[in-house]
Amino acid sequence: MIRRIHHAGVVVRRLAEAYRFYRGVLGLPLVREAEVRDQGVRAALLAAGDSEIELLEPLAADSAVGRFLARRGEGLHHVCFDTPDVASELEELRAKGAELIDLAPRPGLAGQIAFLHPRACDGVLVEIATPQDDASAPPSLLRMKRLVIGAEEPARTSARFEALFGLATIPMNGGPRAMLAVGRSALLIVPADEVGGTHGMVALSFVSDDFPALMEELDRASVKALRGTGEVTVDPASSHGVHLHISRYE
Ligand code: CO
Repeated sequence: MIRRIHHAGVVVRRLAEAYRFYRGVLGLPLVREAEVRDQGVRAALLAAGDSEIELLEPLAADSAVGRFLARRGEGLHHVCFDTPDVASELEELRAKGAELIDLAPRPGLAGQIAFLHPRACDGVLVEIATPQDDASAPPSLLRMKRLVIGAEEPARTSARFEALFGLATIPMNGGPRAMLAVGRSALLIVPADEVGGTHGMVALSFVSDDFPALMEELDRASVKALRGTGEVTVDPASSHGVHLHISRYE
């Protein structure tokens, strides 16, 4: 059973620099920062409504995340789903024939975690986690709303996520896109050719509870963005490789 998107993982060159944007400009509160040796990273979780953003700075160039950074640059790396029992979830995934990286849970920044192979989810690297019981995340003015995924055939990728994780589809008005509910947020799966040919995670959308203040912060920090009346799209050059859409309304 999947309860929510626990976090979206973002690879960055330096945590300190990424903090300037994600904490300083967007105002996301820090939940936890630690070195995760077996993943070769220094990582931080920042609260974003019901979900979190995980920033990952590689400790060495020859680690998996270091190689990702060298090959692809900064940007979206994985998505993590919250499950009440990571061990039994993993067993279920294995029984369904999903290709796994971790055959048993191990400690990570989000609690007990395990990774599936990206081949299991049409190129999306998925982590599952059971968080340790601690106080709920600090409140934030930004809430994660959607993770956008590019796919060759959105209906097929959607069916795969539905089958592996028991996610419910959200009806769309026809067209080639598909949407799946994950707690209070959703996965939006779009044809890869709508998003420059990208297969896998392409963008995150948020809702802001104080849009005017956010716009002021973006201006103050000279963030490159396309500004509309109810929505702003941040240039990935300013957001460490992540396409960010932030809207004023749900
Ligand atoms: Co993670």
